[in-house]
Amino acid sequence: MEILVTGGLGYIGSHVATLLIEAGMEVLIIDNLANTRIEVLDGIESITGKRPYFKEMDVCDSEGMAQLVAEHPNLKGVIHFAAHKSVNESIAQPIEYYENNLGGLNQLLKISTQQSIPFIFSSSCTVYGQAEKMPIREDDPLKKAISPYGNTKRIGEEIIQDCCKAFENFNAVLLRYFNPIGAHESAKIGEYPRGVPQNLVPFLTQTVIGKYSKLRVFGSDYPTKDGTCIRDYIHVMDLAQAHIASLNYLLNKQNSENCEVFNVGTGKGVSVLELIYLFEKATGEKVPYVLSNPREGDTIEAYADATKIKEKMGWQAKYSIEEALQSAWKWEVKLKG
Ligand code: UD1
Repeated sequence: MEILVTGGLGYIGSHVATLLIEAGMEVLIIDNLANTRIEVLDGIESITGKRPYFKEMDVCDSEGMAQLVAEHPNLKGVIHFAAHKSVNESIAQPIEYYENNLGGLNQLLKISTQQSIPFIFSSSCTVYGQAEKMPIREDDPLKKAISPYGNTKRIGEEIIQDCCKAFENFNAVLLRYFNPIGAHESAKIGEYPRGVPQNLVPFLTQTVIGKYSKLRVFGSDYPTKDGTCIRDYIHVMDLAQAHIASLNYLLNKQNSENCEVFNVGTGKGVSVLELIYLFEKATGEKVPYVLSNPREGDTIEAYADATKIKEKMGWQAKYSIEEALQSAWKWEVKLKG
């Protein structure tokens, strides 16, 4: 069974690819290597014992995509990760973000809707903005996006919903990720942030390894248990497993509607200071940090109600945050080596 994974050498895509191969699927990876390295393919091969099909290509390349599909007439699923993901960059380069993230999505939807290929989309909890109440449910109201990046997720969801209305045999699952962290337990694949990491855990591990002098905790006076922001940090392997569950859900026709949205989180809210403490406890390393000003555009609190995905797909997070942080640290140490 052939499954197309766009952006399959990226952070989440590469972890999903290993699980698909281990589940016996034929994985076709396309990636333009804009934000990753070709060595990730070696990591996937080393973990699974199998080198997946790989083509260096942009999803926006319509001729290349048409040729790929013509050469692989038995595609049974598309999992779409290939997209830009920096909030700050998207504010500076909105056209590039809309063109790439939505152009790539449209390109794939042309293929998937024509051939009724089940489709899984990487969305984000960013679509909720600052929700009125916690935990956040899928039917809670969405907020206007604060960045072009966030808007591409919101509009991307709407495009897929419109396609599901227009093509009744087309089935899609939209996964709203909370905060993925960590790496494969082998430390053979993980996250390769480009430049200075914007996200908390890669910045934290790079600080502990000595690349930066201190982690800045953005905001310490929020109306939360310790004044710092609350997030739902999920092990990337748990998140990857949610994609396998989603694919099986669609392939086994267990979906009740042809477009369904699921939160993918642990359901636990953890503050920035708690995360630092848990990292120190899990690894025995000291985190140098300083309390700093809030970061513009941050939501104060976001954690998932993840009961829908548990009830409908039987998926739930199984790794602890300590295990996720240990794996992130093991990966950072491996990268240094
Ligand atoms: C961010 C994006 C979100 C995107 C997600 C992708 C913003 C506002 N949101 O989510 O749209 O989907 O990344 O992974 O950029 N923190 C620090 N110090 C740091 C870095 C982060 O204190 O050096 C804090 C942040 O204030 C936040 C928490 O750590 O409270 C998590 O931050 P981050 O990892 O950047 O994720 P999000 O902001 O939740």
